[in-house]
Amino acid sequence: MRSIAIDGPAGAGKSSIAKEISKKTGFVYVDTGAMFRALGLYFIKKGIKLEDETAVARLLDDIDIKVVYKDEEQRIMLSGEDVTGHLRSEEAAGAASSLSVYSAVREKLLCVQRDIAKQYNVVMDGRDIGTKVLPDADVKIYLTAGIKERAKRRFFELVQKGEKPDIKKIERDMQDRDYRDMHRKNSPLAKAEDAYEIDTTDMTIKEVVEKILDIAALTG
Ligand code: C5P
Repeated sequence: MRSIAIDGPAGAGKSSIAKEISKKTGFVYVDTGAMFRALGLYFIKKGIKLEDETAVARLLDDIDIKVVYKDEEQRIMLSGEDVTGHLRSEEAAGAASSLSVYSAVREKLLCVQRDIAKQYNVVMDGRDIGTKVLPDADVKIYLTAGIKERAKRRFFELVQKGEKPDIKKIERDMQDRDYRDMHRKNSPLAKAEDAYEIDTTDMTIKEVVEKILDIAALTG
């Protein structure tokens, strides 16, 4: 099976770009952030404090998480319930980031992620795909962009959904989340040694996609 790993901080354009690459290559787009978000919302719903690692670990074994691919879309099923529609909120993002420091959580999702990559050709995005989940990925990309540009992108994404976001708060939350993701002990966000770094600040999605497809052809 073939794989393209895309890592980088929040708002660098990973998911938009991975989706386009998926369309052009036929590889399945695997959004690993959605898996952390789904677990985050699950624990909030259960009234578990996300800082309570013991309580989180205790409940983790009972969670039946299945990731399925239908009509080119990823659906996340928790105990048979499709939770995909609830995952894009900032609440889910914060909860995902809090949970993602725990090794038990990461191990559970690591198995799910590697299983998918055994079954399909994938373009998988996240924080530790090139460094940990798929260390032998055929192509590794590390996407970055300036914080102001990343906050602006998230701001417009929320505006399009009819929300009235505060751009300063988005910027602060993103910086906090990036700091946590880069400084945690377990699988921190980092560029793999053999990853190509692309700064997308002044690039269109199309330009980034073309660049990655060029790299994939070079290394393929
Ligand atoms: O990519 P997304 O913004 O949906 O990810 C939400 C959070 O999930 C990230 O901030 C990070 O804490 C966590 N995450 C992770 N490892 C991944 C994907 C996401 O730790 N592979």
